[in-house]
Amino acid sequence: MIINNLENRIAKALQSPLYQKISDLAEECSIPTYLIGGYVRDIILERPIKDIDIMVLGSGIEMAELLAKRLGKSVKVTVYKNFGTAALRYKGLDIEFVGARKESYERHSRKPQVEIGSLQDDQNRRDFTINALAISLNKADFGTLIDPFGGIADMQAQLLRTPLNPDITFSDDPLRMMRAIRFAVQLGFTIDDEAMEAISRNASRLEIISRERIIDEINKMMLTQRPSIGFKLMDRCGILPLVFPELAAMKGVDEIDGKAHKDNFYHTLQVLDNICQTTDDLWLRWAALLHDIAKPPTKKFIEGQGWTFHGHEFLGAKMVPGIFKRLKLPQNEKMKFVQKMVLLHLRPIVLAEDIVTDSAIRRLLFDAGDDIDLLMKLAEADITSKNETKVARYLANFKLVREKLKEIEEKDAVRNFQPPVSGELIMETYGIPPSREVGLIKDAIKEAILEGEIHNDFQEAFEFMLRKADELGLKRIK
Ligand code: CTP
Repeated sequence: MIINNLENRIAKALQSPLYQKISDLAEECSIPTYLIGGYVRDIILERPIKDIDIMVLGSGIEMAELLAKRLGKSVKVTVYKNFGTAALRYKGLDIEFVGARKESYERHSRKPQVEIGSLQDDQNRRDFTINALAISLNKADFGTLIDPFGGIADMQAQLLRTPLNPDITFSDDPLRMMRAIRFAVQLGFTIDDEAMEAISRNASRLEIISRERIIDEINKMMLTQRPSIGFKLMDRCGILPLVFPELAAMKGVDEIDGKAHKDNFYHTLQVLDNICQTTDDLWLRWAALLHDIAKPPTKKFIEGQGWTFHGHEFLGAKMVPGIFKRLKLPQNEKMKFVQKMVLLHLRPIVLAEDIVTDSAIRRLLFDAGDDIDLLMKLAEADITSKNETKVARYLANFKLVREKLKEIEEKDAVRNFQPPVSGELIMETYGIPPSREVGLIKDAIKEAILEGEIHNDFQEAFEFMLRKADELGLKRIK
């Protein structure tokens, strides 16, 4: 990557009058002040800016309070006393002031022992050379880039390197191993060999990191164009089985009598990358990652048939809540959506292989409801065959399935199917309490509609109820 006009990129970012105000303040208070960290990285890489991190050789809290006064009454400062940090929100951006630190961590905890440090100390303790750049806001050298570890060269080489020995950087905060992988995916950079080896050596130290922080990194990966890169890296350095054993278990190919199945790990990753081309929806992406998650526990070799994974969609759906809970993903309708997608993921494929009957389409619409379009996306992303004829056939059949879906939905409106005859009406008509019979009649009505025997219409359903109740020997009282 060529970073030309480095000075221009910095000068452009510093044009905002905000920096002049901060610079004036730094001069008046004699507190050396720098832009630092991810903010500087993103200025130079011309990425969208989120938060502004400012590092001061003095009290961050004092600087933030003084600046807030100058920016106007409405600007409020939030102080994090324990960390000596203060933040304020200005023109939609969070500006955080931190005193320069020299940190050392206790071996078995994430609690840093913080000491006041110099600019160099502060840069030393950061995770990657590209995140350790500083820009001076001081009058004497306003706008000067301070790059003690060759961060710019690493950006140009698209390399993630730690400022210190990677064993130290990673053991100071093991989350950084996940950050390395996440940045590699987000920025398209390579983790340098020494850092990669250190990650492999220190992977087990992720144990002391909260699941919430780990899943944050994984979700950031999941929202990139090609999350597969991240999971492959996690696999390469031994993090995958620690964090996500179910996914690690999908790796590998078994062969019996010359018959092998595909490697479900790589297949899954390809499905995930495929779906990232068609959706930004994090949960549909999760569904892609988990769609075959129960293939390892359902795998069987059957004589004459080869490898089978019978029921993997059912078991997979059952596994979703446990995985979500352990990974600290939400236990709400998002999880239910993923479950539903995992459960139904084969249905459009089976349809596309078969003769597409109206009743099969109605059933699919009924089961998928409003998520039908997302389910179709997942099913299309699931086509990873290298056989072009096969792929063309699947895609053509999916097209047919989509057309039929549209046609049936327009005709029958079963997508958000509500039974036209309610249980209450059945009970009232026959003077019976909630019972097996009520359930039988309701199911029979639903089946008749899905099979196309009757329309999704009150009158037809009511007459069907009368016939069914007759068969069951019920006597009408109304
Ligand atoms: N940092 C670090 N080690 C961490 C987290 C953060 O050294 N475990 C430092 C890095 O210098 C980083 C800066 O703190 O650039 C700001 O951290 P943060 O806002 O969490 O991340 P960014 O690098 O800005 O990236 P993103 O916002 O994409 O997470």
